[in-house]
Amino acid sequence: MHLQIELFSGELLDLMRKVYNDPNISDMVKFDGVTMPEQYEKLADAVENFQVRDDDIWVCSFPKTGTTWTQEMVWCIANNLDYGRGRVPLKDRFPNLEVSVHADFPEIVASNPDIQIPEAVVDSIKYIANSPSPRFIMTHLPFNLLPRQLRTGEKKPKIVYVVRNAKDTCISSYHYLRTLEDLQGSFEDWCNLFLQDAVMYGPFWKHVLGYWEKRTEGNLLFLKYEDMKQDLPGVIKKTATFLGKNFTTDQLLSLTEHLSFENMRANPATNNEDLIRRIKKVTRSTVDGKFMRCGEMNQWKFEMSPDIIERFDRWTRENLKGTGLYF
Ligand code: A3P
Repeated sequence: MHLQIELFSGELLDLMRKVYNDPNISDMVKFDGVTMPEQYEKLADAVENFQVRDDDIWVCSFPKTGTTWTQEMVWCIANNLDYGRGRVPLKDRFPNLEVSVHADFPEIVASNPDIQIPEAVVDSIKYIANSPSPRFIMTHLPFNLLPRQLRTGEKKPKIVYVVRNAKDTCISSYHYLRTLEDLQGSFEDWCNLFLQDAVMYGPFWKHVLGYWEKRTEGNLLFLKYEDMKQDLPGVIKKTATFLGKNFTTDQLLSLTEHLSFENMRANPATNNEDLIRRIKKVTRSTVDGKFMRCGEMNQWKFEMSPDIIERFDRWTRENLKGTGLYF
């Protein structure tokens, strides 16, 4: 394996072990500085050598920043608003490159024959490698862990990156993982892990800036969740132009409607309820919660203490200084 591994230790490792309560996830370590479960080692070479195609369309993001929303928007635009074919679950239409790292799926399938786990999840890289073009691929990997052909620019498929305010991302991930895995520890514990880049795919700002730095290369569109909330038709138009599509006003209206929080929450192809039900069977989590949870901006105003807000804001200022990116 070509990546350098660094271990967490001391109080931070104790906190990580306390909070992550999923027996299917091994300890987190750092792969070239990126926090991932140890089992990522098994996938790392396959990701590195993954054969990219110029006509792939990628959506990249840190988890809980509006990935699903962006995927559905990109897929619908690229497929000329084919809502009929869009009834196939988004996870199959737009698979996650490295999802197989989240658990030992072959083992889970073997020991839980009643739980159906889609092939796109059990062996995501093989599933995507065998898919016909044009492929739609989602990844939460930071730029420095992307397949070599993407990093070096040998292949230049279109990439859409979406980012969200760090505080709301942290809140969204806390609720999501509590539901899925029955996360232990308090919300404050989770914020402490987030601020110390000890959550999966962290460091958060390095993730964001790794893509931000590529925004002028022509094949990358950089979006903000907050802009989608404030002006979805504007973001749709921008994305359509990036993908070489042009829609009528009526088509734009219909896509805006299709992508509303309420419609995506009611849509079994996008609300991930089926997937969450299956994962909870494995993790045995009894915590109630939805993937499409509230879909609002500025939740931090209601869920974070002044002290945590101050720490997040300082951390954000320090990391974004001089980058031209702001929140
Ligand atoms: P909340 O937990 O704050 O509600 P991801 O897809 O990256 O996991 O991000 C999930 C977050 O995006 C969740 O945030 C989810 O509700 C929100 N989201 C998904 N679809 C949305 C939509 N159509 N409008 C607004 N927010 C949406």
